[in-house]
Amino acid sequence: MDRNGNVFKNQRDKYIQINNFLAILNDAMNRLPPKKHWTILDLCCGKSYLTFVLYYFMKEIRQQECHVIGVDLKKDVIQKCTQIKQRLGFQEMDFIEGDIAAYNYGQGVDVVVSLHACDTATDIVLKYAMKNQVKLILSVPCCHKELAKQIQNKMLDPILKYGLLKERFAALLTDALRANVLENNGYRADVIEFVNFENSPKNVMIRAIWTGKKQTNEIQSLIDAFQITPSILTPL
Ligand SMILES: C[S@@+](CC[C@H](N)C(=O)[O-])C[C@H]1O[C@@H](n2cnc3c(N)ncnc32)[C@H](O)[C@@H]1O
Repeated sequence: MDRNGNVFKNQRDKYIQINNFLAILNDAMNRLPPKKHWTILDLCCGKSYLTFVLYYFMKEIRQQECHVIGVDLKKDVIQKCTQIKQRLGFQEMDFIEGDIAAYNYGQGVDVVVSLHACDTATDIVLKYAMKNQVKLILSVPCCHKELAKQIQNKMLDPILKYGLLKERFAALLTDALRANVLENNGYRADVIEFVNFENSPKNVMIRAIWTGKKQTNEIQSLIDAFQITPSILTPL
């Protein structure tokens, strides 16, 4: 925004993404048992537009105590975000440079959010959250490259021979497996559109709330049918 609070034209889509993300977060948090203090991780936070607004939203709008931590591989963005949070006086906010696969906050994380974590980074986010039985996961996946390189299926050749359709099919398959695996690990999972397609073509969100009730979704036949080894099923 500019100094008068007007959203820059070229940032309007991001603004809508973050607003909608927070509306979904707010609604999901209201469904969780109340807490005095929340620990929230933003994995693959990048420039952290979401992370900063999330912190403000928790503190000022929800008026709740929280510790918000952003993690990203990129040294320069982590340095910049750390400077910004110091300037803003956001004391219970930290930025950590590193690979999320190696990151370990340990027990006590309540919420994991992730917006547009590239390809299999989303699987790391979900596996991290499942391993630590995080109560709420909001993950918007991005660039589903992994299965597009792997899928083979003779019957579906009329679809898979077209590059674009293969990509879209692989993305559906990837997110379907992710949601099923979450359900098998004690989550209630939904796959929803968090913004309109025009605000981001990557507009699918996986929302998962810990219930502790494990389902027994059968996914092996899909894996066999497409001859795939999805990252969501490999150990963290
Ligand atoms: C498309 S950006 C999204 C950034 C931000 N969440 C947003 O929506 O603006 C993806 C980010 O994921 C980070 N990333 C990808 N793989 C990662 C990994 N294994 N560990 C940490 N960060 C990773 C990249 O450095 C990049 O900043």
